[in-house]
Amino acid sequence: MPMARQALTFFTNPFRKYTIPTILFAQKTPKRHRFSCHYTHSVSAISDPKPCIRSPEAIALEYSDLNLPHTTSEEVGHVRIRQHVNPLSASFATPAEVPNWDEVYKDARLPLMVDIGSGSGRFLMWLAKRNLHSKNYLGLEIRKKLAMRAEDWAKELSLRNIHYMFANATISFKQLVSTYPGPLILVSILCPDPHFKKKHHKRRVLQKPLVDSIVNCLAPGGQVFIQSDVLEVALDMRNHFDAESDTLTHVINTDSSVLCDDDGWLLSNPMGIRTEREIHAELEGAKIYRRMYQKRI
Ligand SMILES: C[S@@+](CC[C@H](N)C(=O)[O-])C[C@H]1O[C@@H](n2cnc3c(N)ncnc32)[C@H](O)[C@@H]1O
Repeated sequence: MPMARQALTFFTNPFRKYTIPTILFAQKTPKRHRFSCHYTHSVSAISDPKPCIRSPEAIALEYSDLNLPHTTSEEVGHVRIRQHVNPLSASFATPAEVPNWDEVYKDARLPLMVDIGSGSGRFLMWLAKRNLHSKNYLGLEIRKKLAMRAEDWAKELSLRNIHYMFANATISFKQLVSTYPGPLILVSILCPDPHFKKKHHKRRVLQKPLVDSIVNCLAPGGQVFIQSDVLEVALDMRNHFDAESDTLTHVINTDSSVLCDDDGWLLSNPMGIRTEREIHAELEGAKIYRRMYQKRI
């Protein structure tokens, strides 16, 4: 294990409660963070002292195993991270073209994991690197430059089991996934854009048609992993999937090793790696609300 990663083990081990040494803390007032998602947690949610380590450093350390290049192609250029895009705007209404899966993956029959709203793509890439010959990975991201940069990185690392697409998942998920030749075994929606205002809730990525497509496309025994650092958003996603109880069951009902709190949220991240938003939120002292569902066999 590289030194940098070892040093951050206490941040990254999902099966251990994160304990951050007090030496890292300072009593500063939290600033709005210059990160991809510009929402902060309420004061009550972050009453603990703030850690001195900043999200970009924590993120770099979390993914240090990837050894990603710092440069990006001319075509991608500088990736300016904007606040939320509006997925309902006409510019995102065109379905993504279905690729030739046999050209995309070395073996397009392998089980597939899809990450909806893959952001920078590092989370999925970390998983792909660990499961080179057993699983394929597909990142769907509505911000084109993020998807392009992630695809550049995957090529740079010669990963033939991962692919990133510029796609509005609400529009394109069903067609893309139903044409994939192998089984769909896992769909993740991790810290989706919250779109707080009620009138903007319809911009949230998880809407009933997407839920239906996920449930229908999943292989028997396949799983859905959702999480958010915003309780309201986590509850919204949870309500959608709880409503599919004829087809889906929460994993605590199928796996006795999975632990939940009294409200039914998973006690730890089952993936072995955190997403960027998750790292940032945990640095702010926020709780991450997680559920994992399994399709009945
Ligand atoms: C808050 S970020 C979280 C990124 C990553 N999952 C994480 O946890 O760090 C949400 C991501 O979802 C993307 N997104 C939002 N709506 C989307 C949609 N309809 N289809 C695909 N991606 C979407 C955003 O561009 C953004 O990168």
